[in-house]
Amino acid sequence: MVARDEAKMAHHCLNIEQTYSVKTKIIVCDFTKVVSIADYTRIVANQVIELDISMVFLNAGGSPLATIYDLGDDQIQAITRLNYVHPIYLTKALLPQLTRRSKRVAVVITSSVSSKVPMVAFSAYCSSKAGAAQFIEALHEETKQHLDAYSWDCGVVATKKKPFKVGFRSSPTQAVAGCFKDIGCERRSFGSWKHELEAISTINLPKWVLKRIMMSRLLKNN
Ligand SMILES: NC(=O)c1ccc[n+]([C@@H]2O[C@H](COP(=O)([O-])OP(=O)(O)OC[C@H]3O[C@@H](n4cnc5c(N)ncnc54)[C@H](OP(=O)(O)O)[C@@H]3O)[C@@H](O)[C@H]2O)c1
Repeated sequence: MVARDEAKMAHHCLNIEQTYSVKTKIIVCDFTKVVSIADYTRIVANQVIELDISMVFLNAGGSPLATIYDLGDDQIQAITRLNYVHPIYLTKALLPQLTRRSKRVAVVITSSVSSKVPMVAFSAYCSSKAGAAQFIEALHEETKQHLDAYSWDCGVVATKKKPFKVGFRSSPTQAVAGCFKDIGCERRSFGSWKHELEAISTINLPKWVLKRIMMSRLLKNN
């Protein structure tokens, strides 16, 4: 497990070890701060070199709801690094190890429905997720002898930090089940039926309606 908060990871890993009798490993890394593939190799890939990795989940991501005027330069750089740069750089850092494996490896990125729909107050996020999802599709073509690369274009999930409430919200369990069913089969998928409905309705909304929805969320947040 790779994230920023060591104590939080230790808590989750203890639960996982006790529930499933597996071993876990914790690596502290802030993806908004890593700026080179060499650093990803040093901080992450070299620490897992002895492990037999069958699945890589590039899940970390997110963004505040704000227009490009209101986001600071640091915030825009952080959003881009977290959602777009980290999946590419970390995949490249892990690639020698993944492609040496005799069995196939799944590389899954959590993208977003918003990778398919440009949204006001989410411009850096939408475009970063779109770029990351495109990377995964192309990566699959380049590496399909070894890897099943797959972009989960996730919809709204009721996590602790959920950005807003909408009707199609899935529980984390429903959402993850929707993601897993398509690993090895699809290159991109919305996952659960709820997320598929959310995607269809969002993609087909008139642009002015979507803009109004996003602006009202923005106003509510501020
Ligand atoms: N929740 C939704 O409704 C929704 C909808 C569509 C797509 N998504 C996508 O789903 C993914 C997970 O979202 P979530 O809502 O579960 O987010 P979350 O609750 O913030 O969880 C994200 C995970 O990534 C880690 N993380 C966050 N920022 C990080 C950073 N800078 N460096 C390293 N690790 C970091 C967090 O751990 P630490 O805080 O310890 O670092 C946490 O374990 C994201 O890619 C998000 O864009 C979510």
